[in-house]
Amino acid sequence: MRKKIVVGNWKMNKTVAEASELASAILGHLGNGTFLCEIGIAPAFPALTEVGKVIGSSDIRLAAQNCHYEDDGAYTGEVSVRMLESLGCAYVIIGHSERRQYFGETNQTVNLRVRKALAEGMQVIMCVGETLEEREGGITDKIVTEQVREGLKDVGDLGGIVLAYEPVWAIGTGKTATPEQAEEVHASIRATISDMFGEQAAGNLRIQYGGSVKPSNAVELFAMPNIDGGLIGGASLKAEDFVAIVKAAG
Ligand code: PGA
Repeated sequence: MRKKIVVGNWKMNKTVAEASELASAILGHLGNGTFLCEIGIAPAFPALTEVGKVIGSSDIRLAAQNCHYEDDGAYTGEVSVRMLESLGCAYVIIGHSERRQYFGETNQTVNLRVRKALAEGMQVIMCVGETLEEREGGITDKIVTEQVREGLKDVGDLGGIVLAYEPVWAIGTGKTATPEQAEEVHASIRATISDMFGEQAAGNLRIQYGGSVKPSNAVELFAMPNIDGGLIGGASLKAEDFVAIVKAAG
């Protein structure tokens, strides 16, 4: 049985003080309950240290929103995996559609980042998903399959990988994929993984759904057989909503 995983992607929101406050509020809402799912939060780089201190040794894991594929060097504005490790990050999100859309990320650069993070022992959340135009053009499956195949090219072991299926048209739009629409793509991704890495690896791989997940739709999304939790944007900026979504995952 796959352990569900719910991660809050805070994107470019919150100053260091605000981020610490939000992390404290999340801890407060989680209380002493035990949760069956894994929980992560991904503040912007400047807040990682302080948020890491706030979550301490709790059940919440620290995640980063991106990493570079070199160890160090002349890459102004970039952050290496080793730097993230030194801040206590357990996960790094790679290939988010906003990185692809606004910052020129391609399946090839996603693949370089994924392989680097895995080589350094960091766990990866690799994002895939089609645009509205691609969905309407009937090529969702082709696009997502390519993203999965190229993003995971030459990856030997899937142990450190979580995938996130995030239809671009559902991100930040309030328009969620229906559980059936999401499940269809998740099942297809798992079939691709089975073809690439074998049935057992595909059975163990966790595939999150992302795109306007809210407390009101999380339960039905997470109930689908191939949906193993969520990557949460907007709703993760409200402690109460994020914790409600965590609870929906068990
Ligand atoms: P959203 O973002 O929940 O605000 O749609 C999801 C994401 O981008 O990971």
